[in-house]
Amino acid sequence: MRTSPARVQQVLDEAALCRATPRAFSAPLRFGVDLGTATLVITAVDARDRPVYWEFLRARVVRDGVVVDFQGAVDGVRQLKARAEAALGVAVVDAATAHPPAVAASECRACAYVLQQAGIECRALVDEVSAANALLGVRDGAVTDVGGGSTGVGVFRDGRLARLSDHAGGGHHLDLILAGALKLSVEDAEVHKREHGAAVVERLRPGLERVAESIRRQCGGVDPGVVHLAGGALQLPGAADIIAAYLGWPVQGYDHAELITPLGIALGL
Ligand SMILES: Nc1ncnc2c1ncn2[C@@H]1O[C@H](COP(=O)(O)OP(=O)(O)OP(=O)(O)O)[C@@H](O)[C@H]1O
Ligand SMILES: [Mg+2]
Repeated sequence: MRTSPARVQQVLDEAALCRATPRAFSAPLRFGVDLGTATLVITAVDARDRPVYWEFLRARVVRDGVVVDFQGAVDGVRQLKARAEAALGVAVVDAATAHPPAVAASECRACAYVLQQAGIECRALVDEVSAANALLGVRDGAVTDVGGGSTGVGVFRDGRLARLSDHAGGGHHLDLILAGALKLSVEDAEVHKREHGAAVVERLRPGLERVAESIRRQCGGVDPGVVHLAGGALQLPGAADIIAAYLGWPVQGYDHAELITPLGIALGL
C-alpha cells in the first residue's frame, strides 16, 4: 500500500473524532489492541479500512515491551472490550495485537495471552513498526514509533523491512527530565508536559535530541529518506522540527500520531 502523508493525516483526523463514540460503519469490523507502556488502546476499523472507534486507558502494566502486571493488563483489556462492545453493539471476538521490535518471543506470547485471558482471541501478533506501517504505507523511508517507554525504528526499502530495532527512551524519559527541572513528581510532570507542551518543549530539547540520536543510530547513521514519526511522545508542539533539525533528514510528523500504531494494528498488514 502506498499512502500520502495527507491521506494518513485525514484518517488520523477522522479517528480522533471517534474516541468512545463510534461513527457509522460498514461491517465487519476488525479490532486491534495496543498494550503500551503508557496506555492500553483498543481500535476498530471497518470493511472499508476506515477508523470507527477507539478508546484507551492509562495503565502501567507494560514496561520495555514486557508485560510486568499480567492481571492488570487483563483487567484493562477486559474493560476496553466491554466498553467497545457497549458502544458498537458488536462482540469483540478477536483482535490483533503488537509487540515492540526486538523483544523475546516469550514476551510476545505474553501479549497474546493477555488478550486470551480477557476473552479475545488473538488473530495476529505483529511488531509495532510494521503495524504502524499498515497505516503509513511507507515503501522507502523510516517508520519510528516513539512511545512512552521506547523508540522503535524500521527502515523500509522497496516496501520491505530492511532494518528493525527498538531502544529504550521515549515520553517517560522526557517526564523524568521535566520532573527534575520543575521539582515535580513524575506523574505531575507527565500531566504538565501534555497540558503545557509549548511552554516546556525548549527545556526538553536535550531529551528530544536524545530521541533523534536514537533514531539516527537505529537507521545505521544513513539518511533513510523521509522519517515518519508515530507514537505519542513527539506530540509536543515543535518536537518534529527539533528531530528534523538534529537529523538533517526530511521528517514527517502527524497530528494524533499516538493513534498510528493502534490503528495500524487493527488494519493488519
Ligand atoms: N499531547 C502530548 N504532548 C506531549 N506528550 C504526549 C502527548 N500525548 C501523549 N504524549 C506522550 O506520549 C507517550 C505515550 O505515547 P504512546 O501512547 O505512543 O505510548 P505507548 O504505546 O503507551 O508506549 P510504548 O509504545 O513505548 O510501549 C507518553 O509519554 C505521553 O506523555
Ligand atoms: Mg506504543
